Amino acid sequence: MRPTPIDKKIVDDAIAKRDIQDFAFATIREVKGVAEDAELASGVEFIKMEMGIPGLPPSQVGVKAQIEALSNGIASIYPDIQGAPVLKEQASRFVKAFIGVDIAPEGCIPVTGSMQGTYAAFCLCSQCDKNRDTVLFIDPGFPVQKMQLNVQGIKYETFDVYDYRGDKLGPKLESYLSRGNICAIIYSNPNNPSWVCLDEEELETIGHLATRYNAIVLEDLAYFAMDFRKELDVPFQPPYQATVARYTDNYMLFISGSKAFSYAGERIAVVCIGDALFHRHFQALSQRYEGLPFGLVFSTRMLYAMSSGTSHSAQYAMAAIMKAASDGSYKFREETREYARRAHKMKEIFLRHNFYIVYDKDLDQPIADGFYFTIGYPGMTGGQLAHELMYYGVSAICLITTGSHQEGLRVCTSFIKPHQFQLLDERMKIFAENNPI
Ligand SMILES: Cc1ncc(COP(=O)(O)O)c(C=O)c1O
Repeated sequence: MRPTPIDKKIVDDAIAKRDIQDFAFATIREVKGVAEDAELASGVEFIKMEMGIPGLPPSQVGVKAQIEALSNGIASIYPDIQGAPVLKEQASRFVKAFIGVDIAPEGCIPVTGSMQGTYAAFCLCSQCDKNRDTVLFIDPGFPVQKMQLNVQGIKYETFDVYDYRGDKLGPKLESYLSRGNICAIIYSNPNNPSWVCLDEEELETIGHLATRYNAIVLEDLAYFAMDFRKELDVPFQPPYQATVARYTDNYMLFISGSKAFSYAGERIAVVCIGDALFHRHFQALSQRYEGLPFGLVFSTRMLYAMSSGTSHSAQYAMAAIMKAASDGSYKFREETREYARRAHKMKEIFLRHNFYIVYDKDLDQPIADGFYFTIGYPGMTGGQLAHELMYYGVSAICLITTGSHQEGLRVCTSFIKPHQFQLLDERMKIFAENNPI
């Protein structure tokens, strides 16, 4: 047995200090805390793969526009609750350019990150009909969204999409929807953490069932256009970002500035509500909110109650970003493609040292390279692997915390530094020697 890069006692003490009973269930922030403590105590650097922070500089188009807006005095003025008209126009145009669907500017509403968007959407969807009180997750997913439901006391159901791709997705979804209690269906595409990309046929299935069973689809596009197998670069030309919006009227799209434009710090996203849903009247909403339709309850009631709108200057940044992208002058995918390059190198290292990719296929194609991927090690549970890798100065979260039923870890490619690829290789070599299969 070769010595591990970090003294095991240091890691175990850092875990014990946090009272983590089972490392399999450690949250992102707990894993991060243990890694930081162990790094400090050992003096050995960690390769941090737990947190999905953009590892790229922010979009310069956005920074410039935001500074300009601030210099023009925008900070003293409350933003319009519907959003700055310039952003609404540009968001609608961006949706047409990169998704290929028409959504009127009135339905494009800025929020303080998709986080706020989903929080408000959960609240709204759960109030449309008193019999529909449950949100359905096509998992694995972003753990914080379940926390948002817990905070609000809204029920949820979940299933792991791993065994239900392609033709199997419809019957599985229907088994939940037919109970009559599902108000909304949520998934991210590309998916955090598995990087599964639901294809147009699967989205068509989701869309048709959502219409039939009167559920609202919350399509989380946090990793917008990051399926790098497809040429999604050219505005107003197919292929487009895959979307359910082509197959149902019941949808809300969540377009975040955080990852696609590396703008996480400014907390900006746009929620795009399909025109028909925006204007739809739900009896329960009308009774509670003075006869307002769905879209106006979202903005003038939910968002107004939560934050009275979204940072004014960040809206100008997002408007400029979306405009430049739609004009074709800002090629945002050329920047984010860096994540795919990193994923490619990291996967190669892990695979060479006996690891395997857990969510390895998109139907019959290998999974794309992108912001996240998933790994497992023969004979180890996710919890054992996450704990063991800490001794090698590698930190990651367990899939179990994301609603996955698979044993393994989520690897985030955003934070690895150029010199750490070699370090990862050296450490995984020792890991494989110490854990023969
Ligand atoms: C799937 C998913 N949705 C939403 C978010 C949050 O987005 P935002 O920063 O816009 O709140 C994240 C961030 O990691 C994510 O992975």
